[in-house]
Amino acid sequence: MMKTEIKKDIYWVGCVDWNIRYFHGPTYSTHRGSTYNSYLIMDEEPTLIDTVYTPFASDLLANIRALIDPKKLKYIVVNHVEMDHSGALPELMAAAPQALILCSAKAAPALDKQFNSNWKKQIVKTGDTVSIGKRTLSFVEAPMLHWPDSMFTYIPEDKLLVPNDAFGQHIATSARFDDEVDMVEVMQEAKKYYANILLPFSPLVLKKIDEIVKMNIEIDMIAPSHGIIWRQDPGKIINAYINWAKGTNRKKATIVYDTMWDSTHKMAQAIYEGLVEGGMEVKLYRMSISDRNDVIAEVIDSELLVMGSPTINREFLPALSAFLDDLMGLKPRKKRAALFSSSGWSGGATGKMANRLTEAGFNLQEETMEVMWAPGENELEQCRNYGRQLAAAYTE
Ligand code: FEO
Repeated sequence: MMKTEIKKDIYWVGCVDWNIRYFHGPTYSTHRGSTYNSYLIMDEEPTLIDTVYTPFASDLLANIRALIDPKKLKYIVVNHVEMDHSGALPELMAAAPQALILCSAKAAPALDKQFNSNWKKQIVKTGDTVSIGKRTLSFVEAPMLHWPDSMFTYIPEDKLLVPNDAFGQHIATSARFDDEVDMVEVMQEAKKYYANILLPFSPLVLKKIDEIVKMNIEIDMIAPSHGIIWRQDPGKIINAYINWAKGTNRKKATIVYDTMWDSTHKMAQAIYEGLVEGGMEVKLYRMSISDRNDVIAEVIDSELLVMGSPTINREFLPALSAFLDDLMGLKPRKKRAALFSSSGWSGGATGKMANRLTEAGFNLQEETMEVMWAPGENELEQCRNYGRQLAAAYTE
């Protein structure tokens, strides 16, 4: 049983999942685990905001029972219907059948269908408020951040924003707040979360932040549904979101490649040397032994992606396919891409990669770096030059 008071009479009653290694099925790696944050407001009308992933339902109930009999819960706010936040609802609603669910219009039918249920619900929309005693719940719909049903809950009396997935991170921690943990780890996970989940919705992220700024509300704490709670510096994650959403780049290149007999690897290494000589920060990944979610997190603030593969059956190597599939869906903004390849006879990998990267919205460099068979010292020097030229073409 665990609980933490995050504001007077407002408790974190969520669960820490130290052992999850993949989220959304196999689509998102969670090396550092995750948390499912749920918040209990002990006011005249006791209110729970969001629940937890299904396997943790009894832990959530134990945490709630440490503070209140669930039969006294008046409201359960469902900011988002995805299972990691709504999965505990069947067990919770069995223990609290009197509770009224507050959710968006898109969430209501999804809950009915997802749980084959008919729980009491009140639909809320942007601008609606519900008084729970000393406090008010104020709602802001946030469609496609990141599902159509998503919404934020704001409590003006506590200057507390509870935005569900937004501003979250998949990380398991024993502490709850940003001033209690290693922020390098937290920001890395926040960036990975943004890159792999929110990136396609960047224009909506900017619009939503602008909308909230124009509402002129005070926020001194952001309590997302995953990871740590921003109490020391909520502006840090808001500014990071603005930068990621705008496609703000560092002077940074990410090299992503795979290799068959080491020739493409040697080219990757030589291009890497040229880019470093040219003053770029460079990350280098052999995709067949790398985690694609981690690599995508590096691409998000790279100005340049350099991709390489030998040719097999007129195609690039399959280890690059899932990464390219992800890029086509995520569509990072304001990025250059350059290509390299070694091949034995027919070639073709660079053309195929070019097609995919163009479709993903990358600005392709015209010149590619291609060698036949194994690269000799002259060709490796050409690769270094290629790296130097790519670095020299960097613009902010
Ligand atoms: Fe969209 Fe954390 O679920």
